[in-house]
Amino acid sequence: MLDQDTIAERFSVSLAPSLLKELDRMVRKRGSSNRSQAIAEMIRKELVEHRQELGDVTIAGTVTLVYDHHRPQLQAVLTQIQHDHHACIISTVHVHLDHDNCLEVLVVKGKASQVKAIADELIAAKGVKVGRLTVATTDHDLGLHG
Ligand code: NI
Repeated sequence: MLDQDTIAERFSVSLAPSLLKELDRMVRKRGSSNRSQAIAEMIRKELVEHRQELGDVTIAGTVTLVYDHHRPQLQAVLTQIQHDHHACIISTVHVHLDHDNCLEVLVVKGKASQVKAIADELIAAKGVKVGRLTVATTDHDLGLHG
C-alpha cells in the first residue's frame, strides 16, 4: 500500500480559500486525523480508479449485482457469463434478498481490462437492476511491481 511508505514526502498545494475550508470541514466530519491523511486517501482512491483503466495491471475487487430471478433467462445468462470467465471469478455469494430479488457478489481478480469487460457484460444483462464493479486493490498496491 502506498501509505506503508516509511518516509513521507512533502509538497505544497495551492487551493482557493473556499475549497480549503470545505476540505477542513470534510476532514472533521470524516474523522480523519489531518488534511494530509484525507488528501492521501483521496489520491489513493483516484489512483486505484485510474489503474483500473490501464488494462494490463492486475486488479482485484467485487462485482455486485441485484436482479429479479423471475426474469426469464436472466439467471442462465449470468451463469453462462460467469462460466465463460471462470478463471477471473474467485468466489460468488448469492443471497435471496426477498421474494423477487437476488443479490450476487462476485470476487474477481485479473487483468483490469478483462475484469472490466466481465463486469460490464454482467451489469448490462437485461433485468439487472443494480450493478457495480468495486476495485479493492491493484498489483501495485500489493507490492508486486515495486
Ligand atoms: Ni436468489
